[in-house]
Amino acid sequence: MPDASGPSNDVRHERPEIVVLGAIPEPGLEVLRGAGDTWCLTPGVSAGELRERLASADAVVSLITDVIDDAFLDTAPRLRIVANVAVGYNNIDVDACRSRGIVVTNTPGVLTEATADLAMGLVLMVTRRLGEGERLIRSGTPWSWGMFMMLGTGLQGRRLGIVGMGDIGQALARRAAAFGMEIVYHNRNRVDPTVEASLDATWLELDELLATSDVVSLNCPYSPATHHLVDAAALETMRSSAFLVNTARGPIVDEAALAAALRDGTIAGAALDVFEHEPDVHPDLLGLDNVVLVPHLGSATVETRNAMAALAARNVVAVLDGDDAITPVG
Ligand code: GLV
Repeated sequence: MPDASGPSNDVRHERPEIVVLGAIPEPGLEVLRGAGDTWCLTPGVSAGELRERLASADAVVSLITDVIDDAFLDTAPRLRIVANVAVGYNNIDVDACRSRGIVVTNTPGVLTEATADLAMGLVLMVTRRLGEGERLIRSGTPWSWGMFMMLGTGLQGRRLGIVGMGDIGQALARRAAAFGMEIVYHNRNRVDPTVEASLDATWLELDELLATSDVVSLNCPYSPATHHLVDAAALETMRSSAFLVNTARGPIVDEAALAAALRDGTIAGAALDVFEHEPDVHPDLLGLDNVVLVPHLGSATVETRNAMAALAARNVVAVLDGDDAITPVG
C-alpha cells in the first residue's frame, strides 16, 4: 500500500511555474522572476515545448492576441491565474476560467491617460486632415499654401459623443473640454452625478448621441452586446458632417458598413486604432482619404507598457501567494 503521506503523482514544483505568452517589458518580467520559474514564449519555440510548459504552468501572462478558451485551458490543468496585459479581456473566456477556479486579471487604470491621449490625437488627426496632409507631402505632390487648401473642422463648440464613459471615456472628456467641446455620453449606467457634473457631461440615449454629435468616440468594452454597435443603420443616424473615432475594439464597428459610409459621404470621416479582423484592415478603407488608420497604439508608450506589465505581474504574485488579485475581472 502506498503511504498516503508520501509523494504523489501530483508533486508540485518548489517554485511556481509562470508562462508568459509573448514578450513583455522588463519591469513585469523582473517581478515574475522573483515569484517563480518564468518562461517566455519567443518566436521559433516549438509547439511541443509550449505544450510542455503549459502542462505544468501555475500562471499564464497573456496578451490580447492570445485566445484563452476551453481548448487552451485544457492544455494547462494546473493554472491558477490568467493575467492579461491589457484592460480589455475579450480574448479570454472568463466563464470557462471561472468554472475551473482560475482567476482572470486585467490592467485597468495604468493605461487610461495614454489611451485617452491617443483618442484625442485621432480626433485632431481626422478633423484637421493630418494624415491626408502627410500623405500629400510624402507623395511628392506639388503644393503651396492656399486659403482654401485642405480645410478641416474646428473643435470649439462642437459636440463630442462618448460611447462608454469608463476611465478612458472620462479622461477623453477632460481633454476634449480643454478644446472647447461639449460632452455628451452614453453608458449602460449613468456615471456618478458628481463625475457627470465635474465633466459637465450629459447622458443621452445612443440614438440621440449618434444623431447630434459632431464627433463620436467609442470607448466601451467589446462584448456580444456591443458587437457591431455601429452598423450601417447607426452610421445612417449620424450627421453627414460627423466623425467616428474607435480606440476600443474593432468589432464594435461593422467595418464594411463604415467603409461604405465613408465612401458615400454618409459621415465625414473616421479614425481607427482598432480593426474588426486585426491585423487585417478592410481593403476598402485603405484607399479612402477621409479615414485615419493606426495600428492599435492606444496604450503604446514606454511608461504605460511598463506599468501594464508590472501590474499583470503583481496580480500573478498575489494569486500565487494565495492573496486576492489586485485587479480581477468579472
Ligand atoms: C488594449 O487594447 C487594451 O485593452 O489594453
